[in-house]
Amino acid sequence: MTDFTEANRKYFDKMATEYKDRFADSIKTLSEQTLKHRLWLSDQWLDTESGKDKDIKMLEYACGPGLISMTLAPYVSQVIGFDVSDNMIDEFNRNAKSIDISHKMIGYKADLLNTSVPDEFAEPNFTDFNMVTVSMALHHFEYPQEALQTLTKRLNQNGVFMIIDILSRSGSDHGHGEGNHEFGEAAHTVKTHGFSREDMQKLFAGAGLTKDFKYEVIPELLIFHKDEKKHNITVFIARAQRP
Ligand SMILES: C[S@@+](CC[C@H](N)C(=O)[O-])C[C@H]1O[C@@H](n2cnc3c(N)ncnc32)[C@H](O)[C@@H]1O
Repeated sequence: MTDFTEANRKYFDKMATEYKDRFADSIKTLSEQTLKHRLWLSDQWLDTESGKDKDIKMLEYACGPGLISMTLAPYVSQVIGFDVSDNMIDEFNRNAKSIDISHKMIGYKADLLNTSVPDEFAEPNFTDFNMVTVSMALHHFEYPQEALQTLTKRLNQNGVFMIIDILSRSGSDHGHGEGNHEFGEAAHTVKTHGFSREDMQKLFAGAGLTKDFKYEVIPELLIFHKDEKKHNITVFIARAQRP
């Protein structure tokens, strides 16, 4: 694990238990928006014509407590979460248990972006996903392009990569233009201050995800409280597919 990833691990390990309450409003918005965009993201779900009777596997990388996993779990056969933080993975598995889906929603602690990934995570259980999702974490990765390349290898052909992240200031003409907020105490864990449509198209293409790129700015701001101040940020949702 690099020093930068270790800084992320430490920071998120500490806040894992309070994350769900602290970001409750943002989590609600992201969950609603993910559901709203479900058919925009993919047509392969357990309740759709092209997905029914199929085994639909989803990977949530840098999953935290698993908000996207919980939101999409009813529509997939299995959802696997990975995070560098042990405490986040504990939260992820606790949340799965609390809604009675721990048989199909399971989290593991690992840094899959590292060069020395444990052998067990190279097994078929951990590859051939129909969907890989990274929510509010791409800006925490040291090398976003390499991260997408590495995770794309776990997608099957036609598999969908979904990203939710902060809109960059340069991308602000697509939305509210408040993407470049202060990261405060988390600044040392952040590598990129948001991504524009062009950034995302390039990153996806650089990972070989050249099919059906889509990008939308979420009209609702994410609101949260930090250092006794109210903050809001504009986020986007994007997707592209393996040809
Ligand atoms: C802002 S939280 C987002 C959590 C969740 N995806 C969500 O949308 O609520 C960022 C997460 O990324 C994880 N993380 C940061 N760098 C990582 C890395 N290199 N590999 C795996 N997880 C990482 C952190 O531990 C943390 O749980």
